[in-house]
Amino acid sequence: MKTHKIAVLSGDGIGPEIILESVKILKVVEQVFNYSFVFEEGLIGAIAIDETGNPLPESTLQLCKDADAVLFGSIGDPKYDNDPNAKVRPEQGLLKLRKELGLFANIRPIKAYESLLGKSPLKKSHIEGTDMVIFRELINGIYFGEKFTADDYSYAYDTCTYKKEDIEQITHLAFQEALKRRKKVTLVDKANVLDTSRLWRKVAMEISKQYPDVELDFLFVDNAAMQLIINPKQFDVILTENMFGDIISDEGSVIGGSIGLLPSSSVGTENALFEPIHGSYPQAKGKGIANPMASILSAAMMLRYLGLEEGAKAIEDAVENAINNLIVTSDLDETSDYSTSVVAHYVIKILLSEHDQQSYINLENILIGKSTII
Ligand code: IPM
Ligand code: MG
Repeated sequence: MKTHKIAVLSGDGIGPEIILESVKILKVVEQVFNYSFVFEEGLIGAIAIDETGNPLPESTLQLCKDADAVLFGSIGDPKYDNDPNAKVRPEQGLLKLRKELGLFANIRPIKAYESLLGKSPLKKSHIEGTDMVIFRELINGIYFGEKFTADDYSYAYDTCTYKKEDIEQITHLAFQEALKRRKKVTLVDKANVLDTSRLWRKVAMEISKQYPDVELDFLFVDNAAMQLIINPKQFDVILTENMFGDIISDEGSVIGGSIGLLPSSSVGTENALFEPIHGSYPQAKGKGIANPMASILSAAMMLRYLGLEEGAKAIEDAVENAINNLIVTSDLDETSDYSTSVVAHYVIKILLSEHDQQSYINLENILIGKSTII
């Protein structure tokens, strides 16, 4: 079995807490399915600024380039959010990493878990059966265009640019995914106003000819924002540009009941990174209340990307079991006092009970670290 090198970037806020649990679970899966992982940690974000002055130190970038996959926690710190003058910001580390690794497609699945239907602020009848995946372009558009702020702060601008080839590569991925699903791609744009959106439409229409079995339709982003709330079941694959994807994926997270549930993968031709869609949630840092599921499910997506399907499925099934039995953190059930690690340990317990009876019997020792499995 090939040894997979995994770069672990915990980042800021709740990042280290959730990554700790995901790595524990990956080590269990490693043993149960005879995989072989090497984990190497790197600094990124506010903590990297504190320690090195750079939100993405060269050593971290190199570590990620050399790794088979990157497991990422979260990034951001209020001391920067509240300071518009800060020239060096934690987010720059993540954006540069995405760009340098060429991670052009950010894939964000959103589904309504049956047992959590009542937890969403949206009506159960609206969200039941929702199962969609957002393909967000990640390394172009307004995030990466020319930007400027006048010295006297009298004006500023950001520009949005897309090249045909930037749109083509993610559009192909979205259509290929649709072929495996319900065969529908919805392009979300603002083609009634923006030139870049009209280019997206043109390119998507051309490419759709190569996928005659997939239906392509279009929605303006303002309408899409509304449709996501009133009729999310209509969506299968959503394809969209960088900033619209950022916004509608946070919006979509309310369907599942909590943003703390949503994983994502970011893929390029050479590299891939796996991260929750939520941010660093600094208010929860160190309190043991962060929902570890988005990170654990991101680890499962990573295994699938590495071709380790059995492990990926085992994690997803165990997470689903935890959710069905409401072994969840308080963001999903206000009466719950299950901590981050209690929820993760339950996932480990279920995984072992299904796949490794011997270790399951030894579970207590494993969880307190007396056994080699963790
Ligand atoms: C996300 C985040 C990032 C983004 C931030 C942290 C730069 O919101 O991954 O969705 O805007 O892409
Ligand atoms: Mg976001």
